Amino acid sequence: MTRKFEGDRILVATHNKGKLLEIADILAPHGVTVVGAGEMKLPEPEETEDTFVGNARIKAHAAAKATGLPALADDSGITIDALNGAPGVYTADWAETPDGRDFMMAMNRANDEIKAAGPDAPRTAQFRCTLVLAWPDGHDEVFEGVMPGSLTWPIRGEGGFGYDPMFIPEGLDITCAEMEKAEKNKISHRGRAVTAFVAGCFG
Ligand code: IMP
Repeated sequence: MTRKFEGDRILVATHNKGKLLEIADILAPHGVTVVGAGEMKLPEPEETEDTFVGNARIKAHAAAKATGLPALADDSGITIDALNGAPGVYTADWAETPDGRDFMMAMNRANDEIKAAGPDAPRTAQFRCTLVLAWPDGHDEVFEGVMPGSLTWPIRGEGGFGYDPMFIPEGLDITCAEMEKAEKNKISHRGRAVTAFVAGCFG
């Protein structure tokens, strides 16, 4: 049985303003005030697990413990079938350079590694998002969202972020970087995880 959310304030353990606003909008009709990790000056704990749920749990429990508020954290990335699920939890790491993140480099690496896997390697991949709501008493609930699709080359589109320009959602013929934001949110891994969270904890 999923534990329901009964307070009036929730801490969202992200320093990303976009994610914070998106979640605040979705929770507004439920009478919940969203507080950001930045406002509370929370440290960013190290993500030492090798699963999305493991890392989301680290962030959610650290924030709940530090603030005494129920805390929501997410972890996301892309899994590529031809690469046995890589880069997975290392999705952002593939973009790291000494001067910041370079997603062109990360997408080139993904394309090169798929090519190296052979002519018959599948081009299918999934964006995945895990959300964890942790309470200060140590209880948590986990919600997952997946967006299946395939990887195209060369990249297309100016919108979105990260690996969006090479990702075509299943059933469509445009990349996530060619979609309107609202259109992507309806089918995205993050959108689906948030929908499951609201249904589970507020339904
Ligand atoms: P994090 O969960 O914010 O650490 O994100 C992990 C990485 O996954 C990000 O750096 C993005 O590159 C990638 N990622 C997650 N969601 C998306 C998406 O919707 N589009 C493109 N890239 C994404």
